[in-house]
This record gives sequence, structure tokens and C-alpha cells, in this order.
Amino acid sequence: MSSKNVNVVGLQWGDEGKGKVVDAVAGVSRYVARYCGGANAGHTVVVGDEKYALHLIPCGILRNRVINVIGNGVAFCPETALKEIDGLRERGVKVGPENLLISSAAHVVMPWHKLQDQLSEKSLGAQKIGTTARGIGPCYSDKTNRSTAIRVADLVDEETLRQKVKIIGAVKNSVFRALYDAEPMDCAKIADAYAALGRRIAPHVANTGAVLRKACDAGERILFEGGQGCMLDIDHGTFPFVTSSNTSTCGVPGGCGVPPKAVGTVIGLVKAYQTRVGAGPFPTEQDNRIGEYIRQRGHEYGTTTGRPRRCGWLDLFAVRYAADLCGADEVALALLDVLSGLDELKICTGYRIDGEELEDFDPARMERVECLYETLGGWQEDISRCRTFESLPAEARAYVRRVEEYLGRPVGIIGVGPERDMTIVHHSSVEGLG
Ligand code: GDP
Ligand code: IMO
Ligand code: MG
Repeated sequence: MSSKNVNVVGLQWGDEGKGKVVDAVAGVSRYVARYCGGANAGHTVVVGDEKYALHLIPCGILRNRVINVIGNGVAFCPETALKEIDGLRERGVKVGPENLLISSAAHVVMPWHKLQDQLSEKSLGAQKIGTTARGIGPCYSDKTNRSTAIRVADLVDEETLRQKVKIIGAVKNSVFRALYDAEPMDCAKIADAYAALGRRIAPHVANTGAVLRKACDAGERILFEGGQGCMLDIDHGTFPFVTSSNTSTCGVPGGCGVPPKAVGTVIGLVKAYQTRVGAGPFPTEQDNRIGEYIRQRGHEYGTTTGRPRRCGWLDLFAVRYAADLCGADEVALALLDVLSGLDELKICTGYRIDGEELEDFDPARMERVECLYETLGGWQEDISRCRTFESLPAEARAYVRRVEEYLGRPVGIIGVGPERDMTIVHHSSVEGLG
């Protein structure tokens, strides 16, 4: 039997507008589960006059009836999570153990992870990745290292937590002193602070894999909310300029504890152009008037760090790779409205290296590529009030059709503005949408 679950996954370098689409699909889902990343994510949902920027809490929190799950694959920062929970409650959003579950097997981002992220980036100079400084890489490093890791189950068991902080904290102090000549951290203070955080987190902690597998058996819809984007995947992205988890659909089973066949329908989210925050290759980047136009119209500044995002033309050659990797069944094309006002639009449909056209996209071969572009006509109209495909200007329809044709997948949803209703449901197979 095919699964009714849905995975919303970014097919670029993050910030494709996942928050808005997750919020839409959450309206017809029972569970929303995060499987990768941590507080490096910044997902925006606009509800009427209210704008929410969620980092760790799944976007389903804004929908009644939805049970939100932070899966075992998430790098969990208790400080950020509690700040977010408090902020949501202050705004009248209900958050409790009945609608927010946190995996006991998720790894905890400790103060030393954030410190290491900063010290490491600083020491690398021109070689730095341009991380969000949220301690993500160091936390996942400790996960694979095992003996220096702290999981949510340890966080909520005060005796274990104190023991681990004492031993691991001492190791970290020695390492940081040797590597960065850093001042030692006060581990007793850290133990007290994290024991207090653990007490507040405890009511939410659960065996979330079991919960989600039972939900699958009961035929309830789970929406797997992607963090970052496929091109930032640790294994399949533009390494080393990636994040430290499997952000593609490949990360869903491992990061939630469900079988691969439970993934269900994959909605690959694509921004109508390309953006990237931090360092790394970006062949279609427009470090010029066009890029600046897109940045201003799309408010392309990081949701988490406020950094200006690098902007460029849509790279369909890279997107098709990501769509194939994730097994995208359909595509959601977001922020199409941002492209209004340009005379012409370019779409990258291939790469050439040393005069030879590449047959397959290879994230390891991006440095010297020359982009092959197609040029399409632009449109001048504001399309944010369009609610049907037919009401879009002919050039916007042609742009969408070209994306469908090139990717060999239907564009199910089209985003024409940040608000909930600024959406065109075009060819989506997700029942109940639109
Ligand atoms: P995410 O990380 O993928 O959830 O994306 P972000 O929230 O970091 O960035 C996307 C930005 O675009 C947010 O400010 C959204 O409110 C906004 N947004 C989402 N969809 C649309 C759209 O279709 N049009 C416009 N103009 N803005 C959108
Ligand atoms: P959402 O979920 C955009 C980028 C960082 C940096 C690289 C590694 O909002 O789409 P990290 O802190 O993870 O070690 O940084 O990954 N990055 C993102 N870029 N959107 C995100 O999340 C990102 N999360 C990480 O800018 O280049
Ligand atoms: Mg974001």
C-alpha cells in the first residue's frame, strides 16, 4: 500500500519557502516531523498580520490538531527550543506535551558546540564555511564520535547529565585550550543550566520513532518537514560547503525512525530563482544589478542570521539532480512573484567544463563550470493577487511550463506571495490541498 505521507524538501541551498508550504500541507496532516538540521533552520510562516520565524519547532505548531515531532536526526538546542516555545505561547499559540514531542535519541547542542563552531570558523579565515554558528557541525561530529555526545535522554536524566558534562566538558576545555588558546568554560555552571533546561524539556520527551511508526500503521498522514536544502546535504550536496546532516529525502527514514517506504509523496520545493547563504560554489550567481533586484524584492536576508543571501538565476540543471535524488513526485515553485518587473529571465539548463557539456550534474565538479542559459520573456505585472494558473501573465505561465517540462514533473503549487492565501494549487496530487 502506498503511503499517504508527504515530504516537503528544499531542492536548492535552503530558504526555498518551506515554512509556507509546510504550513499549507500541515493543514491536512496529523503529524509534522523534522528529521534533519537544528536551529540553523529558519522557516517563515505568515498568518494574517502575524509573521512567525521557526527554527527548531516544526511549522505544524501553528495548526490545531497537528502533533509536532522533533526527530532523532535533529541537532536539538534546548535553549533555542524553549525560547521559541515561550515566544509562541506569548503570542497565544498552544504548545504542550500533547502537540510537541522530542525524540529521546536526538543529540543535544551544548554550549561547547556553539563555541567550537565560532572558534573553528574564525581560525579558518578564507577557508571558512560561513556557518550559522549554531553549533550544528560540532554537535553532529560528537554524534559520530559517540563517546563525547549527549542525547536528549541524558539531558533529562540529571545524574547522567552532570556526569557527562563534567567529563566531556573537561575534554573540551583541554582541546579548546590547545587548539584555540581559549579560556576554560565553567562546567559546573553549564551542568546547572542544562539540568534546569532538561527539567522543562522532560514532559515532551518520547520514543518518537515508535509514535511515528504507529501513526503510519494507523493510516494517519505524517508530513516530514525538511530543513536546509538538498544541495546542503552532507553526502550529496556541494561538500564541504554543506551542513552536517542528510537534508535530502534520504534523511527522512534515518532522521525519524520510519521505513523508507513510509516517505510517501515528495514535494520538491524550488524557489523561482536561486539563493545561497555562506560560502561555496554558485554558478548562476548574479553579483550585480539583477542579483540586487532579486534580493530587494524577495527580502533575501537570512531568517536565522540576517546575512544578505547571494542571489542568481534558477539553476535547473542542479535542481533536476536534487529532484532525482529526492525522488520528487511534484514540484512547488515558490516566490514566482519576486521575478515580476524583469525584462527577461534566464534559466540554467546545463554546465560546460573546458568546452565539454556535462551529461550528469556532479556536486563535486562545480568550480570551473560555465552555465548554459535559456532566455525567457519576463512580465511586468504584480502577480500576488493571482489565484489560478490561467490568471497569470502568459510569460509567467511559460516560465512554469518550462520548469515542468525540464524537470519532467508537475508543478503542484505556485507561490505568489508570503501569505497563506497567496498560493496557486495547480497540479498537486496531495489530497485535500486547495
Ligand atoms: P524556508 O527556510 O525554506 O522556510 O524559507 P525562509 O522562511 O527562510 O525564506 C523564505 C521567505 O520567503 C520568507 O520570508 C517567506 O515568508 C517568503 N515566502 C515564502 N513563499 C513566498 C512566495 O511565494 N512569495 C514571496 N514573495 N515570499 C514568499
Ligand atoms: P533553512 O531550513 C540556508 C547553510 C549556512 C552555511 C552552511 C553550513 O532555513 O532552509 P551550518 O550552520 O548548518 O553548519 O552551516 O549551511 N545553512 C542554511 N542556508 N537555509 C538554511 O536552513 C540553512 N541551514 C544552514 O549558511 O552555508
Ligand atoms: Mg530559511
